[in-house]
Amino acid sequence: MALLITGGAGYIGSICVEEFLLQGHKVVVIDNLQEGHRKAVLPEAIFYEGDSGDRSLLKTIFQNHSIDAVIHFAADTRVESSMTDPGQFFNNNVANGITLLDAMREADCNRIIFSSSAATFGEPQYIPVDEKHPQMPINPYGESKLMFEKILDWYHRAYGLKFNALRYFNAAGASKRFGDAKRHVTLLIPVTIQVLLGQREKLQIFGNDYQTKDGTCIRDYIHVLDLFQAHIQALENLDKHPNGKYNLGNGQGFSNLEVVKTVELVSGRKVPFEFAPRRPGDPAVLIASSDLAHQELHWNPKYAKLEDIVATAWEWHRKHPNGYKFF
Ligand code: UFG
Repeated sequence: MALLITGGAGYIGSICVEEFLLQGHKVVVIDNLQEGHRKAVLPEAIFYEGDSGDRSLLKTIFQNHSIDAVIHFAADTRVESSMTDPGQFFNNNVANGITLLDAMREADCNRIIFSSSAATFGEPQYIPVDEKHPQMPINPYGESKLMFEKILDWYHRAYGLKFNALRYFNAAGASKRFGDAKRHVTLLIPVTIQVLLGQREKLQIFGNDYQTKDGTCIRDYIHVLDLFQAHIQALENLDKHPNGKYNLGNGQGFSNLEVVKTVELVSGRKVPFEFAPRRPGDPAVLIASSDLAHQELHWNPKYAKLEDIVATAWEWHRKHPNGYKFF
């Protein structure tokens, strides 16, 4: 299959590009390299530097390559920035997405897998969060992802677009070659590892006064290679469930303190940390029910243990302490 992968130079995107290539697909990447890295894209992929909302570039790509399906990773993802700059998030995650969908229509390409998020749910009313759970985001990032899910629904009804929206819970881990080296590292596991590598003085744990077992937030971590597998299954699922939406997690929650302990266990080193005020836009708890993905996508994550997920991240960051700088 010929795939257009937006955001293919980013953390999850680059690992999926690697895996799609391994499975024999033709891969075309579009990435503006704002957070991603050119070196994170394997040379076997065709690379276009630019915005996934650049209509004329998209037109060129669809004209030059006979694209069968789009995998849409490109997005602004930092929850905290979305609280202070929602305009950027709605522009990039919604407006650019519409341009992409219209370029697809023009090129008669009607298959897309969209990277949605647990952040579309907001503060859970019950745990684990299944697909029937109300979606009431508490930050503009989650809102932008939810808006695009709804746009996909309407494009499905009006134009016959076939889509699956995959709601990632907390993506973590690395492949052997690629990992999370965003220009702004903000996710808990890579930040903690940066502290161990001496790149930050100490970890700040945002909030210890949540209504949770130890007062810190709880998240459901899912390995990025398991997320990739969901994309493969979703592509195969499009004809049967052309407007499918799936929550992707391991169904197990870990508090921020437990994550820190796991990083310590895996690395054999102590993590210096301090408690800091809550980070705006953070829900207290996010844990997925992935029953629907198991049933309809036949998706079964292989990395069920947090320790194994963290180990792959630790391994990659230890080998590439400077990310892609000397790659
Ligand atoms: N955290 C800290 N210190 C840090 C970084 C994070 O305490 O230096 C805490 C956060 O406050 C939060 C938890 O660790 O309580 C997890 O935060 P992350 O930034 O690692 O991940 P988020 O849960 O905020 O968000 C991530 C992605 C989103 C995605 C969401 C889905 O950034 O794109 O997971 O759950 F939507």
